[in-house]
Amino acid sequence: MNTILITGASSGIGRATARHFAQQGWNVVATMRAPERETELNTLERVLVVRLDVEQPETIERAVSLGIERFGRIDVLLNNAGYAAFGVFEAAEPAQIKRQFDVNVFGTMRAVQAILPHFRANGAGTIINVSSVGGRVAFPLLSLYHASKWAIEGFSESLYYELGTQKIQVKVVEPGNVSTDFTGRSLELLSGESLPSYRDYAEAVTKKQLDSFQANASAPERIAETIYEAANDAGGRFRYLAGDDAAFLMGARAERTEEEFMGFIAANFR
Ligand SMILES: NC(=O)c1ccc[n+]([C@@H]2O[C@H](COP(=O)([O-])OP(=O)(O)OC[C@H]3O[C@@H](n4cnc5c(N)ncnc54)[C@H](OP(=O)(O)O)[C@@H]3O)[C@@H](O)[C@H]2O)c1
Repeated sequence: MNTILITGASSGIGRATARHFAQQGWNVVATMRAPERETELNTLERVLVVRLDVEQPETIERAVSLGIERFGRIDVLLNNAGYAAFGVFEAAEPAQIKRQFDVNVFGTMRAVQAILPHFRANGAGTIINVSSVGGRVAFPLLSLYHASKWAIEGFSESLYYELGTQKIQVKVVEPGNVSTDFTGRSLELLSGESLPSYRDYAEAVTKKQLDSFQANASAPERIAETIYEAANDAGGRFRYLAGDDAAFLMGARAERTEEEFMGFIAANFR
């Protein structure tokens, strides 16, 4: 029986993925920052709920050990924990810039380093990083988030080759908008109130982003299905777009020159 370890399983895509894999007969190490609040996943057979904060390396090491102790081995690591800093870049505090990378990028890197000795010893393993279509296109007021997801794309693509030599697969899943708590608990607002010259633009973009988010969002269960497909696909595929809006955006990028595509995005936020 296969086992997956998931970061950020308390909510949204991580929670839906934990449920989906358990329903398909997998063992699941469902990790989260506050397991004491969990009331559902810990009632499911084959699910081990463990504390893991990607900003605290010792909790990652411990979660990996507990998962191996309980299920014998781990086959798939899903790096899903993440959030978005939203707002005018000039208004971002140094601590906010650092934390965006500490969670989305360095958190992923820590978990990868924690699992690799186990995967190498097994001569097998799959790392799936939850990126975003926002790891391949960028919208205004999300510069820090996009920077973190573009970093995940480059990190993962390089590792794909390197870890291929160790029989370890690396994949990215790239969702479009997903109806989770991403615009609630996972949105950190950068305060731009002291910067009036951005105000009108920032208000217009914020409204547009929220409207578009609500109109286009996929259910997290749909992303869980794509993650399941990726976990079971031994064919060497690297990227898995998830959601109609993600496919639309990448199609729009492919059929335009870079200048045309950036003009298309700019017009959308005018
Ligand atoms: N929703 C979207 O539109 C969308 C689109 C593309 C990509 N994504 C990506 O999908 C992933 C999951 O987001 P979601 O949409 O499912 O949002 P969500 O429902 O808000 O879930 C985010 C998860 O990340 C966890 N998390 C945040 N900081 C953490 C930390 N330091 N250590 C461990 N866990 C931490 C949260 O835990 P707590 O419960 O402790 O806060 C929560 O479980 C993220 O990487 C996000 O960038 C989302």
